[in-house]
Amino acid sequence: MPVEVNKSVSKLAESQIRQIMEIGRQMEGVIPLWFGEGDEATPDFIKQAAIKALAEDKTFYVPNSGIPELRATIAEYMTTHYGRQILVDRITATTSGMHGIMLAYQTILDPGDKIVIVGPIWPNAVHAAEVLSGRPKVVALREVDGEWAIDLDELFDSLKGAKALFINSPNNPTGWMAEPAELEAIFGYCRARGIWMLCDDVYARLVYDARDLAPSVAALAEPEDRVIFINSFSKNWNMTGWRLGWITAPPDLLLTLAKLTEYNIAGPTTFVQHAGIVALREGEVHVAANRASYEARRDLVHGRLSALSRINMVKPKGAFYAFFSVEGETNSLALAKKLLHDAGVGLAPGSAFGDVGEGYLRLCFAASPARLNEALDRLERVLT
Ligand SMILES: Cc1ncc(COP(=O)(O)O)c(C=O)c1O
Repeated sequence: MPVEVNKSVSKLAESQIRQIMEIGRQMEGVIPLWFGEGDEATPDFIKQAAIKALAEDKTFYVPNSGIPELRATIAEYMTTHYGRQILVDRITATTSGMHGIMLAYQTILDPGDKIVIVGPIWPNAVHAAEVLSGRPKVVALREVDGEWAIDLDELFDSLKGAKALFINSPNNPTGWMAEPAELEAIFGYCRARGIWMLCDDVYARLVYDARDLAPSVAALAEPEDRVIFINSFSKNWNMTGWRLGWITAPPDLLLTLAKLTEYNIAGPTTFVQHAGIVALREGEVHVAANRASYEARRDLVHGRLSALSRINMVKPKGAFYAFFSVEGETNSLALAKKLLHDAGVGLAPGSAFGDVGEGYLRLCFAASPARLNEALDRLERVLT
């Protein structure tokens, strides 16, 4: 007899990125560029901070919102970077950006609520809303004159009847980045109508121009505005496996978020939080070095892929993904499987990022240049 599970959960699609990964990890010699993480481990000064915390017996339960020193450090970091005073009563430490998204959704969404999501997008943002019986509607970024672009009229039109807007900039998978004027217009629209903005800023520091920080509504919002910012230690500080992030929300939500944290995970891991403090306080040199090396890798991947006549790729402005289409190929899952077998390279199919991603492939370029060059050599052989 089939096991009965919650109806929303039973409808959840399986991750297509994991499908590729499951096939690829059983094959020898595959270069895996399917996931969103680099191949460099967490920097030593952060690891040492965790070791020190363990040696000091930081192994007990702590407050649900996070340890006070971490929350204070996050508030200071946000204030410094976004040029507005952001007080600690707005900060909740989370067990990752994913957990931040789930907490934000649990706070805002009732079953049936419409949430507009700018896509293509990391699939979890859509599926987490489905878990809660929300009604996600994806509004598409489009390629216009060789750049990814958002159509504000279309976005505003789609926001009719919506409770919330989820926007991820810099965007996974396209590398699109919203400019300040666009964010101002979107924020103004949502603010005037009481629509919540959930801003996924997990790639905030991976920007490939003169800026060292992506534009964010954080520079515009007052504490009481209906905006929740989602941040993570995963991408900017190479801490994907640590599972640590934070959200910045109106102060009125602090207690609600603490309650929800209690009933989800009862707080992020204690010694990991101590390492997070050091990452923020001492991590700027690392973040800058990452940005520089990822920019060079982006240029490498963009240069070599664009040189292939069948490939079309917009140069990403942020995050660490190449999102490209291949002429004549319309089934990205089939193509990703073919590349796994014929080229020994593991890429994420664009269809994993919603219907609007179909026809594309995503390659994570946060790998070493030697690995990238080998993967590109292999792709070239199959795709020319
Ligand atoms: C857009 C986006 N948001 C959030 C996350 C969550 O990251 P984590 O849960 O590792 O903090 C990811 C991870 O890939 C992402 O791409």
